[in-house]
Amino acid sequence: MYDVAVIGAGAAGMMAAAVAGQRGLKVVLLDHAERLAEKIRISGGGRCNFTNKGTTAANFISQNPHFCRSALAGYTANDFIQLVNQYGIGWHEKHRGQLFCNDSSESIIAMLRSECDKGRVAWRMPCAVHEVGQQASCFVLRTDAGTIRAHNLVVATGGLAIPKLGATDFALKLARQFGLKVVEPRPALVPLLFDAQQWQPFSTLSGVALEARVSTSSPVLGKPTAKPLLTQFDEDLLFTHKGLSGPAILQISSYWNPGQPIVLDLAPDANIERTLQETRQGNRQLLSSVLASIWPKRLAEQWLKNTPDLPKQIGDMRLADAPNAVLSSLARHIHEWSLVPSGTAGYRKAEVMRGGVDTRYLDQRSMEAKPVAGLYFVGEAVDVTGWLGGYNFQWAWSSAVACARAI
Ligand code: FDA
Repeated sequence: MYDVAVIGAGAAGMMAAAVAGQRGLKVVLLDHAERLAEKIRISGGGRCNFTNKGTTAANFISQNPHFCRSALAGYTANDFIQLVNQYGIGWHEKHRGQLFCNDSSESIIAMLRSECDKGRVAWRMPCAVHEVGQQASCFVLRTDAGTIRAHNLVVATGGLAIPKLGATDFALKLARQFGLKVVEPRPALVPLLFDAQQWQPFSTLSGVALEARVSTSSPVLGKPTAKPLLTQFDEDLLFTHKGLSGPAILQISSYWNPGQPIVLDLAPDANIERTLQETRQGNRQLLSSVLASIWPKRLAEQWLKNTPDLPKQIGDMRLADAPNAVLSSLARHIHEWSLVPSGTAGYRKAEVMRGGVDTRYLDQRSMEAKPVAGLYFVGEAVDVTGWLGGYNFQWAWSSAVACARAI
């Protein structure tokens, strides 16, 4: 009989098992995968963006935006940085508080493994869990490694993103089995796609990147009658064969709802109309050349040719000859290019899942299921989804520690 069984040896599962074990509890950690912590391994381009120095509750999406506060305050980005420093793992800040390993994300996996060893955690891996039941005061797991009994069960099997790395809906199914509701899961931090015909003129721009401001309006989660919320990000945008990607799009994808437009400002730091008017007199440059001075040339040419509602030959118009109405319309389109994505690239390409175990059913200090004593959900399986930039790992660490300290 174990004190704690943890299912899922990813970021949250290893952290929960290690902390519980180091508190003196008898812990078993199970995972069905052949290789340990694949998502940590590939994260951050192999260098694991393991936290964000500026983490606050505002960097997370959830039907209850306050749910994550207590766990994030109990185990902060600084706490994780201290652990990383104890192991002598070199790191650097890349962009807006994002911290990456200098060498390889393997060092984070090795660190968590060693923390589990310090807690004398027993491993069952690879090991599938076929059934979870309850008997008297314990959970009974029917697994490839036989029957395992534990007083407490921590579910840390993550979300649905990247099924080929072993992602499953185990946590969502188990939550439902025990009477907890699930907020509809969706791919998040994911490229957006467009109707093939609509996108065809822009598909040749695949590989073009530029800084942009992207925004979308979405209903306030949990308050369908409230005024829609405008969310915007200033980040890099990347054109792809089938649509748009890059940090700006990954960020906004987490807020985007099917059928809604996204609005792109392709020159967020400029006032295009004023610039065009101020430089207009006697200026014989083609409008495509004028735009090529602020954008990649390919983008300037293709975008002018193919943006609906702009005059067909606008690229060949000279700035001095362009009527005021054309310049206004051009500036408006550059600052407010509105597009309706046809969908996302799905879980195959998503970095995370949005939605998950409904936080109304969980205690925010311990992650324990309110209706089922001893059952805990941590990490991405919970309806708390971080922005791009190390926030999802910080949630995994913080929720895991909150749970492990409470058991
Ligand atoms: P995680 O997915 O880490 O672990 C779940 C574990 O459960 C896995 O080991 C899996 O095998 C196991 N499991 C699943 N189903 C099971 C079952 N039925 N039975 C037994 N075991 C089961 N975040 C960030 O903050 N910084 C970053 O740099 C990145 N980069 C990044 C890149 C890519 C390509 C992806 C896909 C994702 C990221 N992320 C990220 C997101 C981050 O990886 C993710 O949010 C955390 O790993 C979530 O931690 P969990 O422990 O909740 O799940």
